[in-house]
Amino acid sequence: MVLKRRVLIAVGGGIAAYKICEVVSTLFKIGVEIKVILTDSAQQFITPLTLATLSRHPAYTDDHFWQPTHSRPLHIDLGEWADLIAIAPLTANTLAKLAHGIADNLLTNTVLASTCPVLLAPAMNTDMWEQQVVQRNWQQVLTDSRFHGMHTALGLLACDRVGAGRMAEPPEIVAYVQSLLHTAGKRDLVGKQVLISAGGTREHLDPVRFIGNPSTGKMGLALAQAALHRGARVTLVHGPASWDVPLGVQAIPVMSAEQMRASMVQFLPNADMIIMSAAVADVKPQYYSKEKLAKKALPQSLPLEPVPDIVAELARLKQPHQQLIGFAAQTGDIVTPALEKLYSKNLDAIVANPIDEPNSGFGSDNNQAIFLDKQGQKREISPCSKLEMAHHIFDLLHN
Ligand code: C5P
Repeated sequence: MVLKRRVLIAVGGGIAAYKICEVVSTLFKIGVEIKVILTDSAQQFITPLTLATLSRHPAYTDDHFWQPTHSRPLHIDLGEWADLIAIAPLTANTLAKLAHGIADNLLTNTVLASTCPVLLAPAMNTDMWEQQVVQRNWQQVLTDSRFHGMHTALGLLACDRVGAGRMAEPPEIVAYVQSLLHTAGKRDLVGKQVLISAGGTREHLDPVRFIGNPSTGKMGLALAQAALHRGARVTLVHGPASWDVPLGVQAIPVMSAEQMRASMVQFLPNADMIIMSAAVADVKPQYYSKEKLAKKALPQSLPLEPVPDIVAELARLKQPHQQLIGFAAQTGDIVTPALEKLYSKNLDAIVANPIDEPNSGFGSDNNQAIFLDKQGQKREISPCSKLEMAHHIFDLLHN
């Protein structure tokens, strides 16, 4: 398989252009080959030199486009070269041109001279973003399946307004780029509702002390990103986390296993796929004190009681058309206990991942696993980023 990893970043003229340095720098570090186009107005905010230095390639402008020295037209060369084009920030002006097929600069000519997926990260003042004509253009562009639109965020804008129209943050753009490189723009989860649990639960003894585990929820976050980027509607029920929930994902923060159970059961009926990647505590303290216990009042031994097995309950409640996938974080032999859980908990598939291997498991950005399903499929997923692993899981669930 040829690894697709050539990304053309096209920068429009908005103040969010400065954030593209981080996108280019991060993509370069993870091995993506990058070329950059800047519109005339983008160069008012950021220089070609900055982006050429970060991308280790020339950064192209309309001056290059009109130079008579090229053997082949530059927009054709760039359009054929790119596996993916990411336009960020996408301005109202460039959006309008895309919506109407206008080609009057290097950026718009290159889009028309290419066939690869195009990722769009709009950024503009709230009133501009909410104009009927801008929203019409946005909806118009998105009717073409080659265009993948990112949500804008609510927040403080450079014009001192607080509202919609803020560009997605660089890590989210980078994740979307990685997803589209993996899927080549395939949207195989359109129309599907995916329900994911992520992170660890906390079982409190008092307001400050709890039984927990080191799960950071990064695997569940990656599953949510992958599902969203493949076109699904996503609900993410998650324990305490240090990351931002991707724009467009419905987030349900919870603390205890009981709260997680209640949310998962609530959202189960509408879900097509349910993925329990959360590390749920197995036990909780028998007694809970609403007041913080004084050190001398702490019990010498802690009576415990089991928490509900959420995935087993979901398996009892689910309909035949719903797919239920569990995770099994293990040390040593990871396959035998995972197979036992696959059948005893009545799951459709389970992802067994080692937590005693370097660079995988809790807190790591990478993972490795063995995917097992009730049809007897057994597939090894070699060490890779958690986002890539999430895509491998969705690929396997579809086969
Ligand atoms: O803890 P265990 O290894 O049994 O976890 C296997 C699967 O069961 C995971 O998908 C986990 O999210 C789920 N689980 C659960 N409720 C629990 C414990 C685990 O849903 N109380």
